[in-house]
Amino acid sequence: MRTLQQSTYEVLICADAAELALEASRRFAELANIFVSDAGRFTVALSGGSTPKAMFRILAEKPFADALPWRSIRFFWGDERCVPPDHADSNYRMAYETLLSKVPVPGENIFRIPAEDDYPQRAAANYSETIRQFFNPVATAPGTEPEVATAPGAESAWPHFDLVFLGMGADGHTASLFPGTAALSVNDGVAAANYVEKFQSWRITLTANTINKARNIIFLVAGEDKAPALKEVIEGPRNPEQYPSQLIEPYYGTLLWMVDEAAASLLCRVGRDASSTQRKEG
Ligand code: 6PG
Repeated sequence: MRTLQQSTYEVLICADAAELALEASRRFAELANIFVSDAGRFTVALSGGSTPKAMFRILAEKPFADALPWRSIRFFWGDERCVPPDHADSNYRMAYETLLSKVPVPGENIFRIPAEDDYPQRAAANYSETIRQFFNPVATAPGTEPEVATAPGAESAWPHFDLVFLGMGADGHTASLFPGTAALSVNDGVAAANYVEKFQSWRITLTANTINKARNIIFLVAGEDKAPALKEVIEGPRNPEQYPSQLIEPYYGTLLWMVDEAAASLLCRVGRDASSTQRKEG
C-alpha cells in the first residue's frame, strides 16, 4: 500500500479492491472511535456503489461488528436513486441489507433519503430539512428565521458531517452529481434533486457545498475503468462540468482518495515522483 501526500489531499493506493475495502473499514472504525470518544457521536454519509458494498460486508463481520460504537453512529446518505427503499436499486436497501440490519444500530440513528416521493424536489427539500434539524435544531426550530441557517457566514448553522464516503463513476460523477447536470451549480441547498438524462431518471444528492463542509471526505475508487477519469480529476485541468468529482474540495476538512492499483494506473505523479510516494505496512 502506498500513500501520495499533496497539500490538499492524500491518495492511498491499495493493491486491489479487497484491500481497499478492508483499509476503508479500518479508517471508518478509527474515525468513529475518535469522534464518539471526543463528541459522543459520529455522523457519516454513505455512498452507493460496489466498493462501499464490500466495505459494508467487512464492517458487518468480526472484528468490526463487535468493536464499533454502533449506537453512537448516525447514518445518512450522500445520494439516492428515486425508488422505494425496498427497490433493488436503492442505496439505502444495499446498506441496510449488507450492514445496518446486522449490527446494533438503533432505527432512529438511520436517516435515509425519502426518494420514493413522487416529487423529487420535495424529497430533496425534506431531506435537507431532516439534516438541518439534526445538526442544528435551534436554528431550524419553528419561529426561527430560515435565513439564520442559510446566511453566508452562518457556518456553524450549516451541517458538518464527520465523514462523507463517496464513489466515483467512470464518467467522473460522484454522489449523484453527474456531468452537465443542474445540481452541479446548486450551492444554496443541503440536498438537491437532479435529473440525469443518461438514466432518464431523477436522483437526490447532497450538494457539493454540503459535502465540502464535511470534516473528512473519503473517495473509494476501484477498477481499471475508473483510471482515465481519476487521472483527469486529480491531474487534469479544472473542468467540473465534465468531471464533477473535481467539485470536491473540502473547505477545512480532509480529503482522502482510497484507490486500487488498477484505478491509479494512469496517475503520472505516482510513478514519476518516487520521493513523495511512501510505502506503508499493510
Ligand atoms: C450511486 C453512487 C455513485 C457511485 C459511483 C461509483 O448511487 O450510484 O452513489 O456515485 O458511488 O457510481 O460506483 P461503483 O463503486 O459501483 O463504481
